[in-house]
Amino acid sequence: MIASEAATVGTTDSANGAGPVVRVEGVRKSFGTNLVLDGVDLTVAAGDALVIIGRSGSGKSTLLRCINLLEPIDDGRILLEGDEITRKGVDVSRVRQRIGMVFQQFNLFPHLTAIDNVTLAARKIRKLSREQAERRARELLKTVGLEEKAEQHPHQLSGGQQQRVAIARALMMEPHVMLFDEVTSALDPELVGEVLIVMRDLARTGMTMLVVTHEMQFAREVGDRLVFMDEGRIVEEGVPADVLDNPSDERTRRFLRRTLQLPESLEELTVNEEGVEE
Ligand SMILES: Nc1ncnc2c1ncn2[C@@H]1O[C@H](COP(=O)(O)OP(=O)(O)OP(=O)(O)O)[C@@H](O)[C@H]1O
Ligand SMILES: [Mg+2]
Repeated sequence: MIASEAATVGTTDSANGAGPVVRVEGVRKSFGTNLVLDGVDLTVAAGDALVIIGRSGSGKSTLLRCINLLEPIDDGRILLEGDEITRKGVDVSRVRQRIGMVFQQFNLFPHLTAIDNVTLAARKIRKLSREQAERRARELLKTVGLEEKAEQHPHQLSGGQQQRVAIARALMMEPHVMLFDEVTSALDPELVGEVLIVMRDLARTGMTMLVVTHEMQFAREVGDRLVFMDEGRIVEEGVPADVLDNPSDERTRRFLRRTLQLPESLEELTVNEEGVEE
């Protein structure tokens, strides 16, 4: 009953009404001499799920980390609901409260139960009482299909269940946008689906989401837009099915071919020392 429960979770209203929730303008970012984001422009409308794909090292995680103010940018600016969050003197912790982030590694506290993991930050930062926090946390655990697991510790949960607890934990802060960075990449294949379903249902509630993933079926079915990143730039953007079935940029084609995501028969492909032959 995840889908019906999820209806209580979404936050479609942005503070200033109709404008984009996230706007990235000309963002550049280097680590030393390594230029990692090379002028990224991106707009995510309220309620949209934007999927980000691209090769390892193309800057996907760095982009999400910059949006969440975990990395300072060198140039450009980032706006959240119309506010420039990359300006000097911004209240970082207030900005982060509006942004939920879920990583590949769930990072739950091993000594805390699922419900305590979900409520901890909300009680400390949002100053909710234990009772208020637990009531909300139980609703969220139900939403992610884990109401029966509230009192379990992480080691008693599967990876997929732990990741769903991590999603509930992020939702506990009532974020206005959720960032997902390869949240299913560390999971056994049979556990991937349960996490993707929770994300799909969250998207259906109208949550604004930026999702870095290799799950192309998810991108196709849940994404409103898809961007392909290469060497710190967005080289292609569009409706997911269009980009995936008919990429216009050669770099996108090559990426999809290498990950066997192009609708080409396996029989037509050969392999060499580099991997899938071009
Ligand atoms: N904290 C850091 N310090 C130095 N270099 C970094 C740091 N974080 C990322 N990089 C470098 O920035 C580049 C982009 O990394 P990033 O993690 O954003 O790529 P990605 O697209 O998320 O890759 P993957 O698919 O492997 O997760 C890489 O060359 C990486 O080595
Ligand atoms: Mg990454």
